[in-house]
Amino acid sequence: MKEQFEALDARTAEALQGGGQDRIAAQHKKGKLTARERVDLLLDEGSFQEIGQLVTHRSDNFGLDKQVFLGDGVVTGHGRIDGRLVYVFSQDFTVLGGSLAEAHAAKICRIMDLAMQNGAPVIGLNDSGGARIQEGVVSLAGYADIFYRNVRSSGVVPQISAILGPCAGGAVYSPALTDFVMMTEGTSYMFVTGPNVVKTVTHEEVSSEDLGGASTHASKSGVAHFTAPNELDAIRQLRQLISYIPSNCEEDPPMVDYQPGDELRPELDTIIPENPNQPYDIREVLNAVIDPDSSMEVHADYARNMVIGFARVAGRTVGCVANQPATLAGVLDIDASVKAARFVRFCDAFNIPLLVFVDVPGFLPGTDQEWRGIINHGAKLLYAFSEATVPRITVITRKAYGGAYDVMNSKHIGADMNFAWPGAEIAVMGAKGAAEIIFKGEIAKAADPAAKLAEKEAEYKKQFANPYEAAARGYVDAVIRPSETRKHIIASLDMLRNKVEKLPRKKHGNIPL
Ligand code: HXC
Repeated sequence: MKEQFEALDARTAEALQGGGQDRIAAQHKKGKLTARERVDLLLDEGSFQEIGQLVTHRSDNFGLDKQVFLGDGVVTGHGRIDGRLVYVFSQDFTVLGGSLAEAHAAKICRIMDLAMQNGAPVIGLNDSGGARIQEGVVSLAGYADIFYRNVRSSGVVPQISAILGPCAGGAVYSPALTDFVMMTEGTSYMFVTGPNVVKTVTHEEVSSEDLGGASTHASKSGVAHFTAPNELDAIRQLRQLISYIPSNCEEDPPMVDYQPGDELRPELDTIIPENPNQPYDIREVLNAVIDPDSSMEVHADYARNMVIGFARVAGRTVGCVANQPATLAGVLDIDASVKAARFVRFCDAFNIPLLVFVDVPGFLPGTDQEWRGIINHGAKLLYAFSEATVPRITVITRKAYGGAYDVMNSKHIGADMNFAWPGAEIAVMGAKGAAEIIFKGEIAKAADPAAKLAEKEAEYKKQFANPYEAAARGYVDAVIRPSETRKHIIASLDMLRNKVEKLPRKKHGNIPL
């Protein structure tokens, strides 16, 4: 038996050293951790159970028979985050550049299958040169096997990707199919075609970082939901993200302890500026309403005219969606609509109540938006809200104009509780624009057109620039003092706790993609 134990120990030691000390040192020199270090930091201490440590590839093409590594370049298994089960794979760049081929892919597929069967999230730590060139089409097949599982798992278990090194070519599509993408600044990049191909085809000169680094994807493309200055922070954020979400679509999100206290927030009574065109930061409103220090913003640098993120109210996870008057007056444009729509669908898939704050002057006008399809993209948000069956609460803080009023979780598209602050203006458009159109003739004929416009503007404002017309029709359930918002939201979430709503029977809907 002693010899057998020694053989096992030798194999374990071989597996643990990955591609060897030189390559591990090179990885560290780049500011990157190894695959195993990442797993150890991500999971609760001592909780990692490895699966497939001794798996090897079965190819002898192009000298691969002399480059056999135990584990085949990916560490896979399960462990715990704050005591909750998660599945993890972590690509090992020190082994054949973390490249993916048959055995490597099969290991990832195995844990994805286990995650589906056992209802727990999958976290992928990506650091790979892509398809293993020596294994040819078998590598491509391996990717496709993963993509297929990404799609089948979507909406069943949460899937989270961290990009901690290269991720290029078709390899990008697995993270893109997952629910959230985290990227480290300066050490990760994602692109379908790299700088050399770009230069050949379009003659553009661009660095890897500018083409597909963390800040590019966090601010320009929207591919990355989160960025981190280093891997330690990335892993801290991954653990935080898991804390808000349930393990699968059948569960409710985890609760944290909450002691009821003074729920009034007097600072909200003075937060809206006197001048309706003056901006304020909706994050200040959100922070006053949610539990202290309980938020995690998603897509913070992308489409800043919309703020989305997780938070807790009285210990319960909520998904917040809010127009941001401090950026582009909170207008709805293509990027903001798509950003919010995807988040709404995630929350709905995983039983996370939606808390929506509205201060929106309408959709952004212009040829750029129209030609790029704001009709379709705006419809995505409308579709996502209309389809959502989780508890849905709306607070209109100031403007709710035009189609954007309908879209932003109005009662008409299925919201459960709709509140408005006393200064809310719920109307087809702003008073000046409205007066200019409907009193055009009268204003033109007036001896003093400017005075006439002001008079008609005031008339329109009195009639429509308030929440009472909507409240009289029941479109708004209550007009509330801003300082009492948190109190009303806690009570509504409590009231809606056991909400059950089923969509009509169908195979699936046809969201305007
Ligand atoms: C096999 C690979 C590899 C790959 C890297 N290596 N990528 N081996 N297949 N795809 C190996 C290298 O040969 C090297 O081995 C080791 O990994 C480290 O790579 P380096 O080049 O020394 O590292 P670095 O300088 O950091 O450059 C990293 C890199 C580069 C930018 C990722 O390796 C690279 O460009 N690799 C090829 C990327 C690529 O074209 N992949 C295919 C993409 S298409 P030694 O033994 O020398 O240390 C794709 C399609 C997916 O993935 C389709 C899905 C549908």
